[in-house]
Amino acid sequence: MTIKVTSCGKLYVAGEYAILTPGQTALIKNIPIYMQASISSASQIQLSSDLFDYSVGMEADENYSLIQDTVKVWARYRGLDLAKLPPFTLEISGKMEEDGLKYGIGSSGSVTILVLKALAAFSDLKLSPDLLFRLASYVLLARGDNGSMGDLACIAYEDFISFQAFDRKRVRRYLEKHSLQETLALDWGYQIEVLKPHLPAQFLVGWTRQPAISKDLIRQVQAAIDPEFLKVTNRATLRCKEALLKGDGAGVKNSLNQISDLLENLSPAIYTDKLHQLRTIASHYDAVAKSSGAGGGDCGIAFVFDKDILDQLLQEWEQVGIQLLYQEDFS
Ligand code: PMV
Ligand code: MG
Repeated sequence: MTIKVTSCGKLYVAGEYAILTPGQTALIKNIPIYMQASISSASQIQLSSDLFDYSVGMEADENYSLIQDTVKVWARYRGLDLAKLPPFTLEISGKMEEDGLKYGIGSSGSVTILVLKALAAFSDLKLSPDLLFRLASYVLLARGDNGSMGDLACIAYEDFISFQAFDRKRVRRYLEKHSLQETLALDWGYQIEVLKPHLPAQFLVGWTRQPAISKDLIRQVQAAIDPEFLKVTNRATLRCKEALLKGDGAGVKNSLNQISDLLENLSPAIYTDKLHQLRTIASHYDAVAKSSGAGGGDCGIAFVFDKDILDQLLQEWEQVGIQLLYQEDFS
């Protein structure tokens, strides 16, 4: 019997970079573009991904190390040696890319969640979104990942969320000296809230077709993050959250414009020419657009409050090489 599972993508709406600091809040939207996994019983563990033209077992392999680390954490979660884990074949597809260019909607976070979902389904277990989030974060923290884990929270919940960041250094230190079970039982101090916005607006994702590498951008930008940036960004992010929930389009527009300005001032690496154009074009209409996540390429997001201008805006985006990747009616 073959079991199939999927995991979604995600994009930051507000609070990127600030979310790297404990206590800060970000708004992160699930994007229903999926990765798929098929898992079935086999005589030994075999892993394959359509990103690579070969499959592996559990022997060291750089390309497959994230998937392999996830399998190892799963075995520990089940309290089994790897050799005792019932063997399986796991096939992963859905590259979240086009013409060899990645969309930048969270494929590495998504693959971690996907593998955990597949392994849980294979063991006939149901993991809550929260446990899924903590297991996936554990995998990445143990690997020394420098992200906020906000992507994992969004993908695990498969919903639009508000995420308040936990102290990753503290959890990292704790997991080095404690068991997986003890670490999972610890109060990490994050907060995840599912948002159900009602806003007379279209939510758009514009893809620049310029792949960016978040972990490099984080390294480049991190030193510029100061208390003032954090304070003002957090305030604007919370205002945006309230405005989304209240259906207050003007509030969403103001707060996102302010966050966008803060990001532009934080580092010139964030707003590439195309992301500038994405934002500027939207500003000529009853709409707001900004870079999403680390920036430096990948995708931007927009809210369009007047449906009648949608075609025109999309046409202008297209003229500067920005492709509509996803659209959702928020009303
Ligand atoms: O570009 P993305 O979607 O990977 O987002 C990165 C967001 C940062 O806040 C810059 C980093 C992080 O892990 O939160
Ligand atoms: Mg990105």
